[in-house]
Amino acid sequence: MNIILIGFMGSGKTTIGRKLAHLLEYTFIDTDSEIEDDQSCSVTEIFKYGGEECFREMETRLLKKISNTQNSIIATGGGIVLRKENRKLLQKIGKRVYLRVPVEELLQRLKNVQNRPLLKQQKPELVFQKMQKERNLLYEDAECIIDTGQRSPHQIATEIIQELYDKEYDHNL
Ligand code: S3P
Repeated sequence: MNIILIGFMGSGKTTIGRKLAHLLEYTFIDTDSEIEDDQSCSVTEIFKYGGEECFREMETRLLKKISNTQNSIIATGGGIVLRKENRKLLQKIGKRVYLRVPVEELLQRLKNVQNRPLLKQQKPELVFQKMQKERNLLYEDAECIIDTGQRSPHQIATEIIQELYDKEYDHNL
């Protein structure tokens, strides 16, 4: 089985994904990093020179490429759910886990980051307001929703494993 982490930027998909991959001894795939490696440039540069649509196309191509992967944890870019085609692919590839974080916390976490092109265009509060309208329902379609507030990546990863595999999963992993 594959586990796909979805949610807004800053929700901890990469950190929790790495932890999950370690606990389950699964392969870790981060879609943003895969695209950056493939293009030999950063997501910020792709947005700057190619535009958002170009990046979304790369996400779709990548999902097709990894669609036969097994036993992987896939941390996705926050906007991957925007395309219907991607949503279908994600559904086919694995169990989607939405890491839900209150927007106030996301804003706090992302206060000083420079590598999120979409946050450079407008005030972050306004960007998130718009994104919430567009994305909340898309994220909430996930097989599993985890409220991550104030807990460590290890605790969250353990909860995801319990939810998806076994409610009796050993807390001490
Ligand atoms: C995006 C989120 C980013 C990255 C790109 C666009 C978005 O990934 O894919 O900047 O549209 O929310 P993270 O969610 O890992 O920050």
